Amino acid sequence: MTNVLLVGHSARAHAIAEAFNKNKAVKLYSFMKSKNPGIALLSEDVLIGSYSDLESIKEFAKKNKIDFAFIGPEDPLNDGVVDALQEIGIASVGPTQSLAKLETSKSFTRDLLKKYDIDGNPKFNVFNNNNLNEINDFLNELNEVVIKPDGLTGGKGVRVQGDHFNTKEEALDYCKEVLETHESVIVEEKLDGEEFSLQCLTDGKAVIMTPPVQDHKRAYENDVGPNTGGMGSYSSENHLLPFLKKEHVDAALEITRKVADAIHEETSEYYKGVMYGGFILTKEGVKLIEYNARFGDPEAMNVLPLLKTDFASICQSIIVQELDRVKVEFEKKATVCKYIVPKGYPDKPVKNEKVEVAKSEKAKMYYASVEQKDDGLYMSGSRAIAFLGIGNSLEEAEKAAEKAVSGVKGKVFHRKDIGTKTLIQKRINHINKILG
Ligand code: AMP
Ligand code: GLY
Repeated sequence: MTNVLLVGHSARAHAIAEAFNKNKAVKLYSFMKSKNPGIALLSEDVLIGSYSDLESIKEFAKKNKIDFAFIGPEDPLNDGVVDALQEIGIASVGPTQSLAKLETSKSFTRDLLKKYDIDGNPKFNVFNNNNLNEINDFLNELNEVVIKPDGLTGGKGVRVQGDHFNTKEEALDYCKEVLETHESVIVEEKLDGEEFSLQCLTDGKAVIMTPPVQDHKRAYENDVGPNTGGMGSYSSENHLLPFLKKEHVDAALEITRKVADAIHEETSEYYKGVMYGGFILTKEGVKLIEYNARFGDPEAMNVLPLLKTDFASICQSIIVQELDRVKVEFEKKATVCKYIVPKGYPDKPVKNEKVEVAKSEKAKMYYASVEQKDDGLYMSGSRAIAFLGIGNSLEEAEKAAEKAVSGVKGKVFHRKDIGTKTLIQKRINHINKILG
């Protein structure tokens, strides 16, 4: 038997739990910030607690004789859960606190690419209170800009010209505002193109990709409304995307490989875990938006269910740095994931409202922000349940997801357009226009 500690509570962690659960020799022990009924069902034991409570996580791991841990979200990585488990001899799939900088410090990542001459950076500069007077000149050098606080901001601190503000004066004001609470701020050129996620697994030496995925950040259909954690996502049966060729995926993978090498060169540490690159295909080629030190949510749901290779074995090979010996295979299927969210999400979601789901034969279901009470499931305010359709084509996968979602009763909404022909054609037209 292999005892695995899973840290995480979201639909992403539910998908990770399911991937482990395919191996009957794995016993899952889950530490969650709030009880996910789906994960609880797949676990031998669960403990609810704060991710910053490293002592409780260590106790729980010791008590259950954990062989290795898998860390789902970024917060515990940032809190140093991997280092804490290492102290008691438990290895993790997930970077140490200092290597989680790949996600938690945007300046670390931009500077790393620059120092090691790796493609993918837009024009950028990092500013702090000492070179504040130089921001204005740099802002004026660029056409349109994006302003990013340096540090974890729960995905909310990034502001894009044209979306969140219009003028360079507003950009400067926001930089100053950021510097009141953060040590530094990144100003970068706004890139125009189509975004995609390439989630890779690495043992610090070998880097293996999972199929590329496209997420949908905006709350409402046709990509309007406020930004969210991601309303849904899709992946194609050929492991490319309708607007993305093999050469583009190869370029993104090459960037990630070089970054993994650069991390070791720079820190003498090996990065073990997920390197999830948010990339954008532009007229100038594939550029890097950011790295995350974890799987994406919803993107984890698009790739983990397609895994043909035993997930626990992959994790073990990451820990002993033999990932190059494993042949990691994914089914050649298309996937479409759609989240149902409470009405009013993300700004003013209804809370504590009941949601009823009918079991669908055709789609998988992953719980996110829902609580199991005696009389059913209640939504807590964030993304509630993810539905995943899998098929031989995007059309089939989209239909399966949509059919499952249509069986949901409650004060919810979802984006019907994700994975549809119309929206995908819009993406293709956009990229054709950009590439000329
Ligand atoms: P991040 O928190 O870095 O993922 O940024 C959030 C979102 O801001 C990304 O998903 C992009 O849509 C957008 N974004 C970030 N950096 C840029 C950039 N340089 N150019 C255009 N859009 C960007
Ligand atoms: N889907 C975006 C994220 O996981 O950060």
